[in-house]
Amino acid sequence: MPASPVGCRRACLTPASAPSYYPRLFADYRFLQATVAPKLITDLIADDMQAVDAVIRERLASDVVLIRQVAEYIISSGGKRLRPALLALVAGACGYQGRAHHQLAAVVEFIHTATLLHDDVVDDSGMRRGRATANAAFGNPASVLVGDFLYSRAFQMMVEVDNMRVMEVLADATNTIAEGEVLQLLNIHNIETTEDDYLRVVRSKTAKLFEAAGRLGAIIAGVTAQLEEALAAYGSHIGTAFQLVDDILDYSGELENTGKNIGDDLAEGKVTLPLIFALRNAAPKQQDLIRKAIYEPAESDLHRVVVSVRDCGALDYARAQAETESGIAKNMIAALPNSKYRDCLLELAAFAVIRNY
Ligand code: IPE
Ligand code: IPE
Ligand code: MG
Ligand code: MG
Repeated sequence: MPASPVGCRRACLTPASAPSYYPRLFADYRFLQATVAPKLITDLIADDMQAVDAVIRERLASDVVLIRQVAEYIISSGGKRLRPALLALVAGACGYQGRAHHQLAAVVEFIHTATLLHDDVVDDSGMRRGRATANAAFGNPASVLVGDFLYSRAFQMMVEVDNMRVMEVLADATNTIAEGEVLQLLNIHNIETTEDDYLRVVRSKTAKLFEAAGRLGAIIAGVTAQLEEALAAYGSHIGTAFQLVDDILDYSGELENTGKNIGDDLAEGKVTLPLIFALRNAAPKQQDLIRKAIYEPAESDLHRVVVSVRDCGALDYARAQAETESGIAKNMIAALPNSKYRDCLLELAAFAVIRNY
């Protein structure tokens, strides 16, 4: 397992100097493109994504310099912009002709970014999007507070859309994400965590925002309640597949692709699906090793644990679950009329599983 190139407990930089002290570690880092990956999707919604980016830039404004610096720092690092892309694609697939989807896509990306700022503090993570995390560069207090700023800015923006259903969906999603993160905290170092416990966390902390993105695209387009439910479910299943793969990549990915330190989950005793499977299916000696690592990661040979997890088929098992979720997502949009948007939604469901970043 590679050593962390940047540790988030190291001394904080002064905010003004942080970005220049922490240039990107990889010149060819994919997120420089700051677009969702599959070309089919990028081409179809290029104008939408540009409009979303313009809203994001405009609404980062604050008189407080530190807010601008930290928010710019994380937002300008790119990211795949999957959730805004999903919202724009759903709106397009439902024949939406207005402009509210740009504002709502920016809202969803702000909420996502706020969760990342908080999550990296909670997970004590040192790398994101190929750079030091904001907490590593600016410190935990700045990350938490700017996360709060982004959440509340997102809420100001959603009120402007002036649609009670929209506000309800986003308020519920944000609340559920927080619940998911707290539930996950309770599972740390807990070898009794079951697959159901794990899935509950995933559906809350990650799938809920994808679900909201799908539902919002449907609501603004004014589709039937039945189609809205199908598109919300599409988002939820994609989000679940997406997090399952994120948890696989934490054991098998490459820093150069993911832009994140590999092995963070194990190092903090986070019991994700690969560990849950390995705890029950690895050879007895390996199970002992894994159990000890969950209790006391700092005292364990984590490299051996990673090898045990890989060797017992845990990653294949998790990938099969992700494929099932992606398949369900695809079935959910069967009722949509044929269109390039629908093709891209199918492509997005496939990408959630095959991605390596
Ligand atoms: C990271 O999400 C957090 C998870 C839900 C796994 P993304 O992988 O979508 O992050 P960015 O926005 O592309 O960096
Ligand atoms: C996703 O979980 C967290 C949120 C949805 C906020 P992870 O903790 O696995 O995400 P990464 O790996 O840090 O991006
Ligand atoms: Mg994390
Ligand atoms: Mg992760």
